[in-house]
Amino acid sequence: MLAMAYGVHVIGSRSAGGQFNLMLADWVMQVSFRPRLAAVAIENDARTLRFVRETGAFSVNLLHVLDGPAIAKRVVMPAEGSKIKGRSQEAASQVHDKLAGIGHFIHAAGVPVLAHALAWYTCEAEQFVSAGDHTVVIGRVTDGDMPRTGEALTEKELGWEYAG
Ligand SMILES: Cc1cc2nc3c(=O)[nH]c(=O)nc-3n(C[C@H](O)[C@H](O)[C@H](O)COP(=O)(O)O)c2cc1C
Repeated sequence: MLAMAYGVHVIGSRSAGGQFNLMLADWVMQVSFRPRLAAVAIENDARTLRFVRETGAFSVNLLHVLDGPAIAKRVVMPAEGSKIKGRSQEAASQVHDKLAGIGHFIHAAGVPVLAHALAWYTCEAEQFVSAGDHTVVIGRVTDGDMPRTGEALTEKELGWEYAG
């Protein structure tokens, strides 16, 4: 499992109440040409999954090899302190705003898109497939752009792993 190669992405989402979130994700892939569909495997207890279930919208932002590592470091923590075991009651009740300090705009689809993504697309969730401790969300691609040139950040350059 660890020998597989992954690009490093950030998933943007929004709750029904209008809160935004960002999440680091390796497990992203295109799964259909017509219609154009993409799948993302999201941890069952992630705030992102809750938000996507609520609004159906999400963005996929592929990070750039040059500045992607700095963005990855800022979004890797879960938004909700309670997701990290062993935290004090006070720390567990805190919610971390992962958009703070990260260049972004709110797309017409209602979700954040990173200003410094190598490429991005927005999706409308069509299926939620239960897959063990994750849920595979299959989304129809609704918009997208490749605003920069250069190479995508992969786990190889980042030096982090999400598999095993
Ligand atoms: C390199 C790396 C890749 C990751 N890829 C995924 C992924 O594909 N799917 C996922 O659910 N979590 C992934 N994670 C973990 C989430 O980013 C992490 O649990 C996140 O805090 C959940 O965010 P949320 O609760 O704010 O939505 C990854 C973590 C790292 C370090």
